Amino acid sequence: MEIMILPDAQRASELCAAVIDRAIRAKPGFVLGLATGSTPVPMYRELIRRHREEGLDFSRVRSFNLDEYLGLAPDHPASYRRFMNEQLFDHINIDPANTRVPDGLAADIDAACAQYEADIRAAGGVDVQVLGIGSDGHIGFNEPASSFASRTRSLTLTRQTRQDNARFFASLDDVPHGCVTMGIGTILESRTAVMLAFGAGKADAIAGAIEGPLCAMNPASALQLHPDARIFLDEAAASKLKLKDYYNEVFARSPYWQSFKEVK
Ligand code: F6R
Repeated sequence: MEIMILPDAQRASELCAAVIDRAIRAKPGFVLGLATGSTPVPMYRELIRRHREEGLDFSRVRSFNLDEYLGLAPDHPASYRRFMNEQLFDHINIDPANTRVPDGLAADIDAACAQYEADIRAAGGVDVQVLGIGSDGHIGFNEPASSFASRTRSLTLTRQTRQDNARFFASLDDVPHGCVTMGIGTILESRTAVMLAFGAGKADAIAGAIEGPLCAMNPASALQLHPDARIFLDEAAASKLKLKDYYNEVFARSPYWQSFKEVK
């Protein structure tokens, strides 16, 4: 794992966007795995700026989102399809037909999940997967006790996650109980995983994910098994890491990271 601790969320988001920008320009037909929630929004804004001002071209990019609520239509104000359209897709030149979000309304959810996995494989696999982290350590919507071998499937959200996400709905009662999510096994097959986490509310989950044991109670700890996991943190999210000084030293000494102007 590589741990990049930046002074604030904006700086961390700009560096993460620069990594994605470089990767997209290097590979025609790039496959981008995407996340929703508050955390990636500044990073998506930076990708939009790079598209508008620096010619970042999404016309051949294909995307797969991590998850969706069960039972929400794509045009529901809190659906992840709508979120992606509003926060990213509507502002860049990606072909809408090349953007995929799991279908929370599929009549046969199991078949739709199997098809989603097959479609990721047919696209050549995910090149870079964007991740946030839940306060309970979830990645995608893989809640505690999710198998590290899990694949795309439907599952039940914890009360904690429903409370955390109630801000997007009229009330807690309106937050769906179910979701469809890529599995942890699916996420681990991405070539590169980039996780963003900001704020003190994520500090415990981040400390457990990076420095705790591999444990189904902290699904993000599965990233310890990922061959190329890069974690972008602000100071608050990094505040409970024991080896913070070491991560800072590795970051400062890395020619790769120092090659980004966002680090200067
Ligand atoms: C959303 C997702 C979730 C979120 C997590 C953090 O697609 O996969 O794992 O990343 O719930 O959400 P925020 O960023 O709103 O704190």
